[in-house]
Amino acid sequence: MERGANQDHVFYRNPRKFYPTVSHGQGIYLYDTDGNRYIDGSGGAAVVGIGHGVGEITQAMIRQAEKVSFSHGSQFTSEAAIAFADRIVSLAPEGLSKVYFLSGGSEAIETAVKMARQYQVDRGKPEKYKVISRWTSYHGNTLGALALSGHTGRRRNYIPLIQHTPHIVSAYCYRCPFDLNPETCALECAEDLERTILYEGPHSVSAFLAEPIVGATAGALVPRDGYFQKIREICDRHDVLLIVDEVMTGIGRTGKNFGIDHWETIPDLIVAAKGLASGYNPVYCVISTEEIHRTIKEASGAFVHGHTYSQNPLSCAIGLAVLSYIDENQLIPRCAQMGRYLLDRLQILTKRKIVGDVRGRGLFAGVEYVRDKETKEPFDPGGKVNALIGSTAFQKGLIIYPGGGGADGIRGDHSLLAPPFIITENQIDELVRILDETIEEVEGSIM
Ligand SMILES: Cc1ncc(COP(=O)(O)O)c(C=O)c1O
Repeated sequence: MERGANQDHVFYRNPRKFYPTVSHGQGIYLYDTDGNRYIDGSGGAAVVGIGHGVGEITQAMIRQAEKVSFSHGSQFTSEAAIAFADRIVSLAPEGLSKVYFLSGGSEAIETAVKMARQYQVDRGKPEKYKVISRWTSYHGNTLGALALSGHTGRRRNYIPLIQHTPHIVSAYCYRCPFDLNPETCALECAEDLERTILYEGPHSVSAFLAEPIVGATAGALVPRDGYFQKIREICDRHDVLLIVDEVMTGIGRTGKNFGIDHWETIPDLIVAAKGLASGYNPVYCVISTEEIHRTIKEASGAFVHGHTYSQNPLSCAIGLAVLSYIDENQLIPRCAQMGRYLLDRLQILTKRKIVGDVRGRGLFAGVEYVRDKETKEPFDPGGKVNALIGSTAFQKGLIIYPGGGGADGIRGDHSLLAPPFIITENQIDELVRILDETIEEVEGSIM
């Protein structure tokens, strides 16, 4: 039975919905105060990598808090920040060697955009300011990050408040914007970047921003091999920086350190986030090339930017403990291995009438739902199919991350899966069984 909305002083995302009270977490499970157990099949929103309740992290938290929790980034550095940055650089592609710490993904995206802009000014190209991004993308909800995001539903109310920026088509093979076959296409979706740079004027374009594997807006859209290599070539040809948004995909989630590592492409800036501290603390970062850092250092001398909690010792110590734990337990190769198992098991969902596509890389997978498999016609958004599947799974003890709008900005339904890297084969079997049961039930009620 549906329960009424919570009646307390918290301003909830959806004030009409009932939210159970979380009690504790252990491994891949979350528990509520009524004693219900949930498989955290999406790691919240692709946040939790090492699992809940890891004692080593709590110990690291306490050790740092007993020394110092906060010092301001304009006044001190800390041993924790130095060691954490060292560790991140050791995982990053060659040439990316400086780490700017932040506390949120939207904040980190805007930091990367500003860093790119200041670099252009400092190298004597002040006319370069535009940032091109893609439709069917998500880069955050603050006004600057929302302007760059390509999700119609999330942008619609706020259009009058945001700057208009150019967007290109996404690399969405299941719904190819050019109606081409990914086996034989010439990566026309990447060529759209070149066309847009030329229309906008290469002299005015500072950077191109993209998620290596799209998460929230479409459910683990993996581009065709060669896409990012081509994007890199186009950026180089027109003197445009490449910023990759690894807020969901870094670190480790796709079975490699960063999502972009699947395509041997070296970006100029990486925004990395959720997996850095696995939910134990909000710590995000922008990783820049030596060249960007050196240019800013030698020209204007300081990056005109900053946030109060950037680089605070407590967050950095927690992030460092999480990355050490990932390394000691070899969780990134495990994520790759379990990811193959998950994707294999998820194929059974394609027997369902409403499952149009199953895709992903590592423990980052998407299931797309359609009204008609032949035509790929999406459901009417009024039916809220993705939310219905999400809430039905939740009642059955499985947390997934529902999303919509992938097909044309408004229509399109999917579920995103991103379980902790420690998940076992048996637990994956249980996850898939509950999801299959959920889809069967929802299918029966709407078709
Ligand atoms: C790819 C991507 N970029 C940016 C963000 C924004 O991060 P935050 O919610 O921490 O502001 C998200 C959030 O889900 C995301 O998935």
